Amino acid sequence: MKVSLGADHAGVELKDQLKAWLTSRGVIVNDVGTHSADSVDYPDFAAAVANDVVSGAADRGVLVCGTGLGMAIAANKFPGIRAVPVVDEASARLGREHNDANVLTLGARLTAPEEAKELLRIFLETKYEGGRHQRRLDKITALEHS
Ligand code: RB5
Repeated sequence: MKVSLGADHAGVELKDQLKAWLTSRGVIVNDVGTHSADSVDYPDFAAAVANDVVSGAADRGVLVCGTGLGMAIAANKFPGIRAVPVVDEASARLGREHNDANVLTLGARLTAPEEAKELLRIFLETKYEGGRHQRRLDKITALEHS
């Protein structure tokens, strides 16, 4: 499993904690930054992670900002990206089972590190159910080309 990981200044501390946790579990991480608390613009990091996922360089993406919301809005501009802003375990699970989410966005101002690790674990381990959900995802893909 390869994960592309990015954050803005509000998410950099949590991003670094998630990176250490992922690495300790044998996940290959591409850390696209940011690497300091200096103010940056979250769409730049959403774009880097989205490109990694769309190109196949990464299997999944994880983006952290203050809320997870701006990162989700930006990442979802890229065809093929299904980014979900997650604040609870049910959303982490259902985002995978029903939506085949390929990018998880987290809010460092909303979610504590230990809970963020649990949400990330669920996101990485939960399988997409397919079936009736595929018809709906196909319609989303069609919207990308309309
Ligand atoms: C930065 O202050 C903040 O706006 C950003 O991290 C994010 O929460 C935006 O959605």
